[in-house]
Amino acid sequence: PAPGWSIDADVVVVGSGVAGLTAALRCEAAGLTTVVVTKARLDDGSTRWAQGGIAAALGDGDTPEQHLDDTLVAGAGLCDEEAVRILVTEGPDAVRRLIATGAHFDESTDGALELTREGGHHRRRIAHAGGDATGAEISRALVEAVRARGLRTVENALVLDLLTDADGRTAGVTLHVMGEGQHDGVGAVHAPAVVLATGGMGQVFSATTNPSVSTGDGVALALRAGAEVSDLEFVQFHPTVLFLGPDAEGQQPLVSEAVRGEGAHLVDADGVRFMQGQHELAELAPRDIVAKGIMRRMRERDAEHMYLDARHFGAEMWEHRFPTILAACRAHGIDPVTEPIPVAPAAHYASGGVRTDSRGRTTVPGLYACGETACTGVHGANRLASNSLLEGLVYAERIAADIARAGHTLPARVPQPLPATERPAYPLLPPEARLTVQRTMTRGAGVLRSAGSLAEAADRLHRLHADARDALDENGKTAEPGVDTWEATNLLCVARVLVAAAQRREETRGCHWREDRPERDDTAWRRHIVVRLNPDRS
Ligand code: SIN
Repeated sequence: PAPGWSIDADVVVVGSGVAGLTAALRCEAAGLTTVVVTKARLDDGSTRWAQGGIAAALGDGDTPEQHLDDTLVAGAGLCDEEAVRILVTEGPDAVRRLIATGAHFDESTDGALELTREGGHHRRRIAHAGGDATGAEISRALVEAVRARGLRTVENALVLDLLTDADGRTAGVTLHVMGEGQHDGVGAVHAPAVVLATGGMGQVFSATTNPSVSTGDGVALALRAGAEVSDLEFVQFHPTVLFLGPDAEGQQPLVSEAVRGEGAHLVDADGVRFMQGQHELAELAPRDIVAKGIMRRMRERDAEHMYLDARHFGAEMWEHRFPTILAACRAHGIDPVTEPIPVAPAAHYASGGVRTDSRGRTTVPGLYACGETACTGVHGANRLASNSLLEGLVYAERIAADIARAGHTLPARVPQPLPATERPAYPLLPPEARLTVQRTMTRGAGVLRSAGSLAEAADRLHRLHADARDALDENGKTAEPGVDTWEATNLLCVARVLVAAAQRREETRGCHWREDRPERDDTAWRRHIVVRLNPDRS
């Protein structure tokens, strides 16, 4: 539908996690008229749920070079070294600026930042807040700063499509807004710079640590707009997610890697530690290795989960250091002080996303991406723990600097009308299709994949798409536009590309685990799978 209202700005930031709000605050500070639009409330989204912390070489004796080495090893040969170097060298100051913005991190009695360890890190370098509530504190501080600076925000605003001018340059976005007074219904923000910071796509799977809003909206928009997307096959499964039963669906409680960083052990039902001997770092090996170790032991034992044993922490440490996890476990009838925690891997993080350069620019002029939505190249085939909040900060700042450099001279662009919607390439799916996408993806493209499982998933997803198309052809109708239908449609869009990339990558690398191709193949596959959809075709 044609936009019923519009706002003019220099920059529109889509999303309100650490990446989006950092970009918005820095753009505003540079004198650019900035609007933040977000699908739910400002503090919804994945940032609020981050537990372990934010990694940066902030401790005595640590250096960006060591952080770089750990990141490259975790990334299994596919990191862009230059992008990582930017991350680790600019990271410490970016964290200090975040602290200056108002975020309070945990400190020891001498006033130094308390640092913990997580998988793949050879040093203590993870700063945390509220024990295990780092993301909540970062979100609080950034939302308060946005409000204090009086930035214009539109909540409950689902982004639909990119607007471009006659030369294909970014001219803004269309939005579907619910219940926000003068900005209700379909509208648009016109701006020559658009920053996508919509977070991840964990909801493409049945069980995920991601909140329900993580439906790949930014990646789907970018695909529809003809931007390049890279590395979607590299979905990171967090090894230790509280196991709530084999059929548990939706957002699942995370049990942070920091619990292992402080000395918890992974054990099987007999209490045997099984990560020792598998990797020099045992339970603190990079995340993909621990997830695989757990899955293998589950198969050997025909078990639905393993256990994380941290009873030796004692009640006081649990209450002080991990209050969020303690409360989540107890809410589900498990007391980590007296019993091991049942855990299993679940979808956690999209290492890939909309392809950007070192300034956050995508392949569409004026369109930027940062945070989990983006693929800057820093994560390679497997993100190092706690590098995500850092990436959101560092690359958001770089984007703001790039826009500010050109911003004041950018002419307002005249958006072209969107193509006729009679027979859209992406017909809207009914909301219930979301469950089908999730179950299909978990069965066919989950932790362990094969050519057969992926082919089945591809076929089922294709049929979902074809059904929506047929319904459109038969009665000229598609599902009623709304947040649920758009989310289901976006999930299907990103799921199809993810499966196609996973089929294509005929090897095992990082978090892409092919049962039928168990070896890493550096001869053929030390490269990226980059996808750009032809907007006229589906
Ligand atoms: C965790 O706390 O284990 C999550 C850290 C991350 O995803 O980087």
